[in-house]
Amino acid sequence: MEIIRIPRIMQETSKRALLRGRTIGFVPTMGALHEGHMSLIRACRQENDITVVSIFVNPTQFGPHEDFEKYPRDPEGDINKLTDAGVDTLYLPDTASMYPEGFRTSVVVNGLSDKLCGAFRPGHFSGVATVVTKLLNIVMPTRAYFGQKDYQQSLIIKRLVSDLNIPVEIVTCPTVREHDGLAMSSRNQYLNPDERKAATAIYKCLSSAAEKIKSGEKNAVRIKELMNEILSSEPLIKEIQYASAYDPETLDELQRIDSKVLLAVAVKIGQTRLIDNILLEETGS
Ligand code: PAJ
Repeated sequence: MEIIRIPRIMQETSKRALLRGRTIGFVPTMGALHEGHMSLIRACRQENDITVVSIFVNPTQFGPHEDFEKYPRDPEGDINKLTDAGVDTLYLPDTASMYPEGFRTSVVVNGLSDKLCGAFRPGHFSGVATVVTKLLNIVMPTRAYFGQKDYQQSLIIKRLVSDLNIPVEIVTCPTVREHDGLAMSSRNQYLNPDERKAATAIYKCLSSAAEKIKSGEKNAVRIKELMNEILSSEPLIKEIQYASAYDPETLDELQRIDSKVLLAVAVKIGQTRLIDNILLEETGS
């Protein structure tokens, strides 16, 4: 596997591959790779001639009191996993090459960035939108792969790619879960054994709400109440940031469930913030 650290070299490598008629698939990550990331890489390898993965813990998407400093980093373990998975190129820039002195530009996707996670993490989605725009311009992929686990992030990226005419297809892949339903996340490493047990309430809450909707519940207020009851019955969940039913396109909270619905949750267990969601595409009318 080739490791490239300089943006210009990454661009030139991609340009050469595209000129030879190759398709480039791209999986952007912040490292500490787990099965969730690896599932994106497998999908990417199946659908493209060349697979590029980036690892960059992007400082601009972390708030001043968030976990940028302690975010899990495992460069050697990651390089081994990527090599075993048959990845062609790892793009591994440092902060100075991504944000050189004088950097002043940011990308803001209005209307979607201040809802759900954005309400609790001001500036987060602008940091994500800006770094993903840069990464797409540097890697120049044919397709880029994102996880449904971060549904709002995926929605914002699809919007910006369409609004800014970036020539890439965005592919969203299903959430990979532990055996007990907990969505895989680099941040699960922060949980102690009791917190790890408590975290199973998140998927319980989402799947109970999904079952209720499938069996005919249309009242979104009752779904919200059910979700909040399940989460509050877990004493280690100290803060429920949001837990409700949302319109999957606008992210507005629903009153009534007619067709598509996004069930989404963000909680804090100890100091650890965890998110998860389930998308129901067809709920009947
Ligand atoms: P990171 O949290 O490392 O996630 C990288 C990609 O893996 C994202 O698209 C995310 O949705 C996906 N992913 C994470 N956990 C998953 C799971 N359990 N199942 C399926 N996919 C999963 O998201 C970021 O990094 C950053 O914001 C980034 C897009 C790289 C920009 O800095």
